[in-house]
Amino acid sequence: MTGLFITLEGPEGAGKSTNREYLAEHLRAQGLDVVLSREPGGTPLAERIRELLLAPSDEPMAADTELLLVFAARAQHLAQVIRPALARGAVVLCDRFTDATYAYQGGGRGLSQERIATLESFVQGELRPDLTLIFDLPVEVGLARASARGRLDRFEQEGRAFFDAVRQAYLQRAEADPQRYRVVDAAQSLAEVQVQLDALLPELLERARG
Ligand code: TMP
Repeated sequence: MTGLFITLEGPEGAGKSTNREYLAEHLRAQGLDVVLSREPGGTPLAERIRELLLAPSDEPMAADTELLLVFAARAQHLAQVIRPALARGAVVLCDRFTDATYAYQGGGRGLSQERIATLESFVQGELRPDLTLIFDLPVEVGLARASARGRLDRFEQEGRAFFDAVRQAYLQRAEADPQRYRVVDAAQSLAEVQVQLDALLPELLERARG
């Protein structure tokens, strides 16, 4: 049995977590086994790596260190949570995955796609999400929402140019593979975003039931 691997992507403040709950509720109401997780994190050890990644620090983190830490957390998360859930036929709804690495470490930090792709194959083998929802919104809206939430983490402290590059990287990936990606307009109100998700639900259910 193979489950369905769905990832939710987008900048900070795009409403991924709220909408992940919304999707989970609808899929569970149909009797599906749904596993919610997030990256970096998703297991106690991977959550410790998340803390290293997000904590502001006086010592600048080298871009390669950042890249290796996100993949170290991912290797643990895959082994402990994602692969076992998919093996038993569950739907995995994961808040961020490797598209975030292409967007933040690739677009934002300027690391090469090839280097990321090498680690992606090393850590994931053939495994890729079946479907990726990109919650897209203008950079200033995302930054305003994130700063309204309180203390900024190490990524949220980045400037406008960084987040412009992150957004462009996400949109380029979506454009290159319309089969796998769906772009959701996250600048709309929550109710309007959920109308967009409602339109996707029949496809998700069909794919989840194989
Ligand atoms: P969030 O999940 O609370 O949005 O925060 C996670 C942060 O980690 C977010 O700023 C994006 C960043 N991140 C990366 O830079 N690379 C990655 O591969 C992942 C999964 C997250």
